[in-house]
Amino acid sequence: MKSERKTRGFGTIAIHAGQEPDAATGAIMTPIYQTSTFAQSEPAVHKGYDYSRAGNPTRTALEKNLAALEDGKYCAAFSSGMGAIDAIVKLLKAGDHVIAGNDLYGGTYRIFVKVFEQFGLKFDFIDMSSARNVKAALKPNTKMIWIETPTNPLLRIVDIEEAAKIAKKAGALSVVDNTFATPFLQKPLSLGGDIVVHSATKYIGGHSDVILGAAITNDDAIAERLYFIQKSSGAVPGPFDCFLALRGTKTLHLRMERHCENARKVAEFLASHPKVEKVRFPGFKTHPNYEIAKRQMRDFGGMVSFTLKNDDIRAAKKLTTLTKIFTLAESLGGVESLIEHPASMTHASLPREVRLKSGLEDTLIRLSVGVEDANDLMEDLAQALDK
Ligand SMILES: Cc1ncc(COP(=O)(O)O)c(C=O)c1O
Repeated sequence: MKSERKTRGFGTIAIHAGQEPDAATGAIMTPIYQTSTFAQSEPAVHKGYDYSRAGNPTRTALEKNLAALEDGKYCAAFSSGMGAIDAIVKLLKAGDHVIAGNDLYGGTYRIFVKVFEQFGLKFDFIDMSSARNVKAALKPNTKMIWIETPTNPLLRIVDIEEAAKIAKKAGALSVVDNTFATPFLQKPLSLGGDIVVHSATKYIGGHSDVILGAAITNDDAIAERLYFIQKSSGAVPGPFDCFLALRGTKTLHLRMERHCENARKVAEFLASHPKVEKVRFPGFKTHPNYEIAKRQMRDFGGMVSFTLKNDDIRAAKKLTTLTKIFTLAESLGGVESLIEHPASMTHASLPREVRLKSGLEDTLIRLSVGVEDANDLMEDLAQALDK
């Protein structure tokens, strides 16, 4: 759906873009149009909707809202982040080559290698935190550069502007997975990216109660093809899920501010703890890409990862069971704090040698720092580390 133009501040757009009081009743909140089909007055004459796979008013409201938040013209919503990723890769043809990061989300790696390689697409996974590596990985058939930044779970930073420039020059599309940063912190389309993809399951939804994805672009031809794939492949979100995601975006800016504030405090606390080997947080001046993060992000996000001294995988696993406020669970971006062990959970689909080669150590622990009181979060980690 075509979005409204960006003229206002983020919070105003979050609350109002794509949201009109319901024409039939005046309801302030977008109704959940829980219907699969729509009445037609004559064959093929209707009020803009004929079948909910092709389009649904609750989904339209969400798509307009997300497009506006990303400074994009178009958004297609999907039943999951993976559904959105699947649709974007289907823009390619057999024989096309994709460059992606070597510590990207495990599910993205899995669909690339285990699903799309079977259809003749070729993938190279590289350390994208240096633009030189991206340039060196280009092939004559490179048609897509897949950027995740901050990366999951190593929180490396990719220079979006630079990578998008390289893609453009090579005639390839640049896709940015903006799940970790959200449009509140980072606007990939404004930095030259062609498509933004989201697991809206995370910060956009914000309450760990919905699985949803989205692809956003300013390009008319890409949008047309994405809508065609959305309708043809059918990975569309239900109206209730769209309603939940829309409810989430209304407080995205407020939640992100607190996530960022809490993550910094937690990262600083961990960095000072004697049992902690290394803390990865893009907001530390010692982070290798701190300057890029500072330039392309409003703040540094709510994710922190760290390793333990002695590199003992059993100690890392045990620690994840000892916290009382941080819940051991996959996913991230909800109001509640989560802790997880990527090697045995979110990134278990990466072969161990691939995982270690990309720097994802056995004792790496990832925190999704929620919006609780920071002191309680630090106390919780302290008691678990001291056990
Ligand atoms: C960065 C990133 N991209 C995409 C996905 C996939 O999204 P979903 O779980 O909504 O399918 C995830 C899920 O964890 C993710 O972390």
